[in-house]
Formats: sequence, C-alpha cells, structure tokens
Amino acid sequence: RSVHSALARGSSHLTRRGYGSESVPQRKVVILGAAGGIGQPLSLLMKLNPLVSSLALYDIAGTPGVAADISHINTRSEVAGYQGEEELGKALEGSDIVIIPAGVPRKPGMTRDDLFNINAGIVKNLCTAIAKYSPNALVNMISNPVNSTVPIAAEIFKKAGTYDEKRLFGVTTLDVVRAKTFYAGKAKVPVAEVNVPVVGGHAGITILPLFSQATPQGNLAEEEIKALTKRTQEGGTEVVEAKAGKGSATLSMAYAGAIFADACLKGLNGVPDVVECSFVQSTVTELPFFASKVRLGKNGVEEVLGLGHLSDYEKQGLESLKPELQSSIEKGIKFANQS
Ligand code: NAD
Ligand code: LMR
Repeated sequence: RSVHSALARGSSHLTRRGYGSESVPQRKVVILGAAGGIGQPLSLLMKLNPLVSSLALYDIAGTPGVAADISHINTRSEVAGYQGEEELGKALEGSDIVIIPAGVPRKPGMTRDDLFNINAGIVKNLCTAIAKYSPNALVNMISNPVNSTVPIAAEIFKKAGTYDEKRLFGVTTLDVVRAKTFYAGKAKVPVAEVNVPVVGGHAGITILPLFSQATPQGNLAEEEIKALTKRTQEGGTEVVEAKAGKGSATLSMAYAGAIFADACLKGLNGVPDVVECSFVQSTVTELPFFASKVRLGKNGVEEVLGLGHLSDYEKQGLESLKPELQSSIEKGIKFANQS
C-alpha cells in the first residue's frame, strides 16, 4: 500500500463523515530542518498529504531551493520556504503542527545521547520561537536524543507559560514501523495487517516493542521474539552502520514522520479513534515521559493508553529501561533550566 493512498485515506474518511472535499479544514504544517536528510523527503510526503493546506519549510540554509522544487507538485498545499533565524517567526505563525527534524545525526560508534551537546541547544532555540510565534501548535519532535529533547521542549514551554502536555509529542513511529516490518518478515504474515505497540523511549533498550500484543498472531518462539526485540532496539544503529558515516535513517524516518503528522492532522480534524504510539508526558509508569499508545483528538493528546498485558520478558524489559530513560529525561530538564 502506498504512502500516498495511506495518507489520502485521511481525506476520504473526512469526506465520508460528511465534509465535502472542498471543506476539509485549512491546516498549516511547518517543518524545521526541512532541507536536511529527513526534512526533504518529509517535506515531499507532507506535500502529498491532502489534509495540509499550507506547508512552511524552514532551515538555516537551503530551503528556497527545496520549497521551489516541491511547490511545483500539483497537490493542495501552498508551499513557502523560510531561511535563517530572522524568518523563523514568519514560518511558524499560524501553524497547526510543527515537525522538528533539525539537528545533527549519528555516525557509527555514537549513541543518540552523543548528539545531546549540539541538538539540545538547537531544540531549545526552536522551542523558544515556537512558544512565541505558534504556542498552540502540536509539536512533533524528531531531533535526537528524543528521550531528552522532548523534556527540554516541555521545560522551555513551561518557562514561556505556554506548556500544554497534550500538544507535545516525541516521534517514535519509526520504532513501530520497524517492529511491524521485522515481525511480518519473521512471522510470515502480511505486513500491511501487522500492528505492534512499541513503548518506553527512543534509544537502545528504552525502545520496548510489545510483540506479545502483535496482531495477527504469529506463534513465534521466545528466542525469535528476543531476536526481533533486539533488532528493533538496534534498528537505528543498523542504518547508521550501513550508511557508514553518511548519517542515519532519513527515508524511513520521513515515512514514519509523515504517518505520525497525518495522525495528528486527523485527530485535529475530528476523525475518531486515531491511535499512534508516541513519547509524551505520562502517568503510565512512574516516569514523567513515556512512549505508549496515544489517542489523538482535536486538542492533541486525547488519552494516553495503558500498557495492556505484558509477557514476563516484556516486564523485565520495562524494568531494565527505566533507569536509562529516567536519566535521559533528567538530563534534558536540567539542561533547559541551566542554560
Ligand atoms: P541532517 O544533518 O541531514 O539534517 C538536519 C537539518 O537540520 C539540516 O538541514 C540542518 O541545516 C538543519 N538545522 C541545523 N540546525 C538548525 C536550526 N537551528 N534550525 C533549523 N534547522 C537546523 O540530519 P537528519 O538525518 O535529517 O537527522 C535530523 C535529526 O533527526 C537528527 O538529530 C537525527 O538523530 C534525528 N532522527 C530521529 C529519528 C527518530 O526516530 N525520532 C529518526 C532518524 C533521525
Ligand atoms: C533512528 O532510530 O533511526 C534514529 O533515532 C536515528 C539514529 O540515530 O539511530
């Protein structure tokens, strides 16, 4: 099934619910870091999304070219490019969703946390501008380390007095995309039918796929589940190593980011039962932020869903991930309040 048809279903759903296609709500989506490895294909996929009426592409360099190129595609949205900090406010104004893939990617041998020193500052500056120019937008945080950049964003918004936990999302959709693909391959079930929740965070063992809840049931052996879990946790590293110094996942991430933004748009537009996993403020565990299934609605997060039944192996994984996730969250909070 193509991304285009998957995304187009959003608008046909609206039409079925009684909106004429001409009255699909106006929605502005902004991409911060739009000229990058993720930013460019993500911009393309958002241009293909019929739920978007205005697409603003912001980066410190390169966006006039990307915007000119993408603007020639004959789909609904108007496209504009914004370059340099002096144009950031204009890019953000009036936006419904801000997607952030700005920042440096990993090279072989690095952890996501090794990106903290550069990306934390970038995220902080961008979130300060979001609080000023588009305080009501839903924020889809892609920049790594997500386990820390989401808490940074929350603290920056709190300081600005604009924080609403319903509007801040760490994008963990790529973990779900990977879990689905790897599970379908191993269980020999049609990939398009597979669902697998992935909970926790977005780095190494903090990524916890719940294969015991996977559908359709695949009857995999315990050892196969363990191998699938490990592969999902190390999926990002698999790509970093294959790219051998030329960055990390960009194309699969753009796909995942487009799926998540589409779910946010559907939620905003009142489509019922839109559920995706995301790293959000949470009371599902004792950790202040945690990824789990989230129901999306007109205000962003409508409901953070619980974990459901876990296998013993998953229960162990959950306990093992908590210290690392807790410390990444604390690191983000500390950074935002120090600097
Ligand atoms: P990239 O280097 O190809 O692109 C990053 C872009 O960000 C560049 O165009 C750069 O100019 C821009 N940028 C830098 N500082 C900026 C600023 N202050 N304002 C606006 N734009 C700025 O990197 P990439 O491969 O696109 O990855 C981007 C980020 O996404 C990395 O941190 C990476 O680790 C992360 N990532 C996250 C996931 C996930 O699942 N959440 C998946 C893949 C990558
Ligand atoms: C991923 O999961 O692909 C991203 O977080 C990028 C990375 O550094 O692995």
